[in-house]
Amino acid sequence: MTEASPRVYLDHAATTPMLPEAVEAMTAHLGRVGNPSSLHASGRDARRVVEESRERIAHAMGCRPGEVVFTSGGTEADNLAVKGVHWARTTADADRTRILSTSIEHHAVLDPLHWLSERGASVELLPVDDAGRLDLVALEDRIEVDPASVSLLSVMWANNEVGTLQPVEAVVALARRHGIPVHTDAVQAVGATAVDFAASGVDALTMTGHKVGGPFGVGALLARRELQLTPLVHGGGQERDVRSGTIDAPAIAGFAAAVEISVKEREHRASHLAELRDDLVRRVLAEVPDVQLSGEGASLLPGHAHLRFPVVKGIRC
Ligand SMILES: Cc1ncc(COP(=O)(O)O)c(C=O)c1O
Repeated sequence: MTEASPRVYLDHAATTPMLPEAVEAMTAHLGRVGNPSSLHASGRDARRVVEESRERIAHAMGCRPGEVVFTSGGTEADNLAVKGVHWARTTADADRTRILSTSIEHHAVLDPLHWLSERGASVELLPVDDAGRLDLVALEDRIEVDPASVSLLSVMWANNEVGTLQPVEAVVALARRHGIPVHTDAVQAVGATAVDFAASGVDALTMTGHKVGGPFGVGALLARRELQLTPLVHGGGQERDVRSGTIDAPAIAGFAAAVEISVKEREHRASHLAELRDDLVRRVLAEVPDVQLSGEGASLLPGHAHLRFPVVKGIRC
């Protein structure tokens, strides 16, 4: 790249530029003092910002405000879902030792699963087909082996690398037969495809600010009120005692603005993005020899293009 050439940022799967509305919402609160847990006027003002943001996120995501648990981002929300549900379910019944997930999860799910497997959990990572779709027959087989021993099923809504949408509805239908809770990592899906928490039937859903035009360091686990979650972080009892720690009101205000806008503008943005992505893929395939396109035949997120260049080593992001 020469000095004069403008930089074009395409890596929105890694992080997105902050939307001006999110910057505005966040900065409006950065200069104000008040801990949302304090009972005096400054604390109550900060609390109002948090609760209004919670309502806005709930409205955009099809859940109840009380189901939004703010976290420091997607990694923490995934850890809370995987460890928190598994611990709560094994505490209630020690025979629930198995966790079913997929081989294509983000490391924010895979690594806690691995960590749990070193501490007694039996983790089974189910395969995907050539387009990156979960093998539902394999999933059903593994559930049916011994449904009562499964503590949790965790299947991402959409893959971060290829962009493949997973059959979340079918996963929920299989899990429901046996009362197994389902967690989905929807970090890449929110704002890119239709995601409605209540309609999906999942019990827990991970989302994060910086993938939807919001700030870094803030996200949420949407968790049904009935879902038992053992906290990972203990302290002041914030976030219904599931996630202690002083609540970051400015970041949450920016997060809520970004979620609201990205969900509202999703359809319009998605069709534009898909056109640009298809054009890019067409041109690369036409001009670069031996390129392989992933995800063919599957439903993909609109902004994802996964191309393999046989002589180039990949990087993990
Ligand atoms: C699918 C998926 N899950 C989880 C994460 C982690 O989210 P965060 O960066 O907010 O911790 C990412 C980020 O790359 C992701 O793509």
